[in-house]
This record gives sequence, C-alpha cells and structure tokens, in this order.
Amino acid sequence: MKRTLIITLATLGAATAAAQQPDPSAHSGRLLASNCFQCHGTDGRGDGSFERLAGKSAKDIYGDLREMKAENKRGEIMTIHALGYSDAQLRAIADYFSKQPR
Ligand code: HEC
Repeated sequence: MKRTLIITLATLGAATAAAQQPDPSAHSGRLLASNCFQCHGTDGRGDGSFERLAGKSAKDIYGDLREMKAENKRGEIMTIHALGYSDAQLRAIADYFSKQPR
C-alpha cells in the first residue's frame, strides 16, 4: 500500500515536471511548419537572410500566406509554398510560428 502511494506520487511528480516544460514539438503545426525552417530558420527564428517568422502574429502570417495564394504569382517560391497547403494547414503553421519566442 505504502509502496503504491510512493510510486503514484513519483509518477505525478514526473508528469508535473513534464507539463512545466513547453515542448515545441507538441504543437500539431510543427511538422507542417518545419518545411519553412530551411529558409526562415529553425522554428522561424530567421537565418539572417530570410524573414523571421517567430513571434509574428498568427493573423499577419496567415494573412501574408493567403495573399500569396490569392495572387498566385507564377514561379515565386512563396506562391508555390502557399498553394501547397489547405486553409486549415496555413492557420496551423501561422499559429505555430506566432507561439515561438521572438
Ligand atoms: C526556399 C525558401 C523558402 C521557404 C522554404 C519558405 N519561404 Fe517564406 N519566404 C521566402 C522568401 C524568399 C520570402 C520573401 C519574398 C517573398 O515575399 O516572396 C519569403 C517570405 C515569406 C513571408 C512574408 C514575410 C513578410 O513579412 O513579408 C511569409 C509569411 C513566409 N515567407 C512564410 C513561409 C512559410 C509559412 C513557409 C513554409 C510553409 C515558408 N515561408 C517557406 C523563402 C522561403
């Protein structure tokens, strides 16, 4: 009985510790957003040459992507990207980047 209690408390402690650590890989948009890391840096933190996406508002990122999709400029790299995702996927990607530290 005492042993069960100790194990239970240890398990609860580990679960609490895990919950306190924000895990960026837990966001459902991360896998989609990882397609953008090559140019916009890991987690959108920028690489010095391309636009930094981390910490921008989801509304702005989503708006930009929607605009690029609607304009549909042939051959432009971001048009090709924007066209490749559904509306829900674009929202998930925008939400992911907006939650990364600036
Ligand atoms: C091959 C490189 C490359 C990849 C991969 C890429 N981008 Fe871009 N992105 C660019 C370039 C270059 C620009 C600036 C030129 C332009 O606006 O077309 C840009 C611009 C943007 C902008 C506009 C930024 C601003 O404030 O003007 C957004 C938003 C953006 N990208 C989001 C994304 C997202 C989301 C992905 C992944 C789905 C992605 N990009 C993947 C190269 C890339």
